[in-house]
Amino acid sequence: MKERVDAILRRNQAEYLESLLQPRDALLERLEKFAEENGHPIADPEVAQLIRGLVRTKVPRRVLEVGTNIGYSVIVIGRECEPEAVVETIEIDHNTLTSARRFVAEAGLPCRVVFHEGAALDVLPRLTGPFDFVFIDCVKTEYEDYLDALLPKLERGAVIVCDNLLWKGRVAAGDHDAATDALRAFNKRIANDPRLITSVLPLGDGTGVSVVV
Ligand SMILES: C[S@@+](CC[C@H](N)C(=O)[O-])C[C@H]1O[C@@H](n2cnc3c(N)ncnc32)[C@H](O)[C@@H]1O
Repeated sequence: MKERVDAILRRNQAEYLESLLQPRDALLERLEKFAEENGHPIADPEVAQLIRGLVRTKVPRRVLEVGTNIGYSVIVIGRECEPEAVVETIEIDHNTLTSARRFVAEAGLPCRVVFHEGAALDVLPRLTGPFDFVFIDCVKTEYEDYLDALLPKLERGAVIVCDNLLWKGRVAAGDHDAATDALRAFNKRIANDPRLITSVLPLGDGTGVSVVV
């Protein structure tokens, strides 16, 4: 059970939905434990489950993740990809990326994974794309910059998933700090950008699903 299970939904709804989640396999369970013990912020399992379904639906050929951490979501995405798919992922922290490389190698994914070490805003302009599936899960104050850098590199029909859009309830509560204000502005942007069809779901910590039109 996550620490603030009722940050977004009422506790009984959140607990009920959590009870529906299937247990993870041994590797993902080990990553979840490693993340908890070492303070790594990986995606919630319900968000991982949504991503699995979206990847199977989209059958992407070029995936980009902004924010690798220990590779949990790379494994979740990569397992659902076809062998010809390439998953590119960006992480600034060398040691964290070393853990990610180790866990991803252990996962024996069907597709290729390309790790980029560096600040996302430095790496993104160097990537050619075009991408057809994106997972944004990095510095909250930079989400809009990631989107601006990425939009020209996204195919029509590309799917963009964004994590933490409700930010532990702070966004809707009207709190003010750099991350909360940035996420509120970002939500408004993706909800109104004519190039996107967006839903912000009360799933996990708030999950955005946008499709490029
Ligand atoms: C929320 S975690 C990603 C979790 C991962 N997507 C998962 O679900 O398994 C965000 C990661 O972004 C990394 N990060 C922080 N600032 C960054 C930056 N400017 N550029 C790239 N990565 C950054 C952090 O080190 C952290 O590992």
